[in-house]
Amino acid sequence: MLVSAKEMITAARQGQYAIGAININNLEWIKAVLQGCEEAKSPVIMQVSCGAGKYMDGFENVVDMVNHCMEYQKITVPVALHLDHGTYDAAKECIAAGFSSIMFDGSALPIEENLAKTKELAGICKEKGISLEAEVGAIGGEEDGVVGMGECADPAECKMIADLGVDMLAAGIGNIHGVYPEGWPGLRFDVLEEITKTVPGMPLVLHGGSGIPDEMVQKAISMGVSKVNVNTECQLVFAAATRKYIEENKDREGKGFDPRKLLAPGCQAITDMVKYKMEVFGCAGKA
Ligand code: 13P
Repeated sequence: MLVSAKEMITAARQGQYAIGAININNLEWIKAVLQGCEEAKSPVIMQVSCGAGKYMDGFENVVDMVNHCMEYQKITVPVALHLDHGTYDAAKECIAAGFSSIMFDGSALPIEENLAKTKELAGICKEKGISLEAEVGAIGGEEDGVVGMGECADPAECKMIADLGVDMLAAGIGNIHGVYPEGWPGLRFDVLEEITKTVPGMPLVLHGGSGIPDEMVQKAISMGVSKVNVNTECQLVFAAATRKYIEENKDREGKGFDPRKLLAPGCQAITDMVKYKMEVFGCAGKA
């Protein structure tokens, strides 16, 4: 059964480790991530972007697939199913579909509107026992082919959003989604320190977890980051393993073209990546 992320995130904040939040993109991803977390004995947040939800034929389908895979694989570790960077409408849709955790990303809205919508969703989520993540200040990434160096959140805005009763807060500290550009100066620990002082005890979320050096992520975790998002790195290892399989002409040997064989190395690569990340974040063995 899916669980809210609140309990696992709170335990992580107190225990100074972080929960790995792994994006899922299709059935193979769901199976591979679940397998990795079960083997690592790690709680997990499996998250879905609006685009991935559409790709998987809708949020209800995602809920069904995750629930059935958990049952089929006899998963014993706690699993939260989380909407990643949700719009207001997507948040409502996922609540109705059976997600156990929601991120409402109102960072592109004027702060007053972000506050009002976050407050409304906080009330609904609390009533239903669903955890809620909110975002302050946009977290950069590639836009129109230009990759920024990572924006930083305003601590005063963090406090305003945190006070609405959210369970976790995504705040930019120089992190960006996707592959980090050359010359990226690293995480802004000075900003992180200021944010933790402004919202003491609030579990913080580090987006763009792919490609940040492990020691840097671990330092951020020691300072209050309790959820680390990973998407790109799983995609890269999946693509590399699939490329290798084809380049070695394995798809031309016997029934090597069968998708169950062709995609197996990529799926194993995701499972291995998830296990590695859970070790780095300190949540392996916590379930
Ligand atoms: P990466 O793709 O950089 O790992 O970021 C994932 C993320 O933050 C999803 O919200």
